[in-house]
Amino acid sequence: MNGEVKVVNDVAAEFARIVASELKGSGSTFVLSGGSTATACYQQLAEQNVEWSDVSIFWGDERCVPLDHEDSNYLLAQKAMPSVLNAAAAVYAMEDADAYEKLVADAVPFDVVHLGVGDDGHVASLFPDSDTLNVEDRLVVDGGDEFHKHPRITLTYPAINSAKVVIYTVVGENKAEMINRVRSGEDLPVNRVKAERQIWLLDEGANGN
Ligand code: 6PG
Repeated sequence: MNGEVKVVNDVAAEFARIVASELKGSGSTFVLSGGSTATACYQQLAEQNVEWSDVSIFWGDERCVPLDHEDSNYLLAQKAMPSVLNAAAAVYAMEDADAYEKLVADAVPFDVVHLGVGDDGHVASLFPDSDTLNVEDRLVVDGGDEFHKHPRITLTYPAINSAKVVIYTVVGENKAEMINRVRSGEDLPVNRVKAERQIWLLDEGANGN
């Protein structure tokens, strides 16, 4: 596994503590994830003392649905931490790859990128065996595959790898097999992330204990 691994009882609480410590100073940028783990992380983050008016918020990926659709990653964050989105310097919903490309080009390098990791080792919407894994000349692309709901928009590795720190949050015994595959060095999408600092936050279940 690339980076530092921390096995903790409360992944969401540790995530919130670390993110709060990393988002210092005006002009900070923070990239959100989707997925079920993210909700608890963002609920905890809303309790942290962060100067959100210094922080611009982006997404790492999004489903191509209306922002008020139940599957929208924007809605996930809006429901989990409404006070954060309301206070942020800027909130850039991900609705069009070309438009987002320009926003990201002006924003990188990102300060903090949050990534969940799918059972198949995907991050954002960079899915196994996808052409999006090999994109080097774009920061944002249209994506998706037949195994995951909805067409997607996703950051590419050049955008993700710009991060000063990537934080992975992985919870539950159902993730233990995937974590073992990551540890084996299998060519999974998450193992292609090459950001300078990477922090894995695992609970005991995901860690395989
Ligand atoms: C999405 C997410 C996706 C998610 C992983 C892990 O849009 O679905 O961005 O990459 O983070 O699938 O999800 P869990 O945290 O629910 O395991």
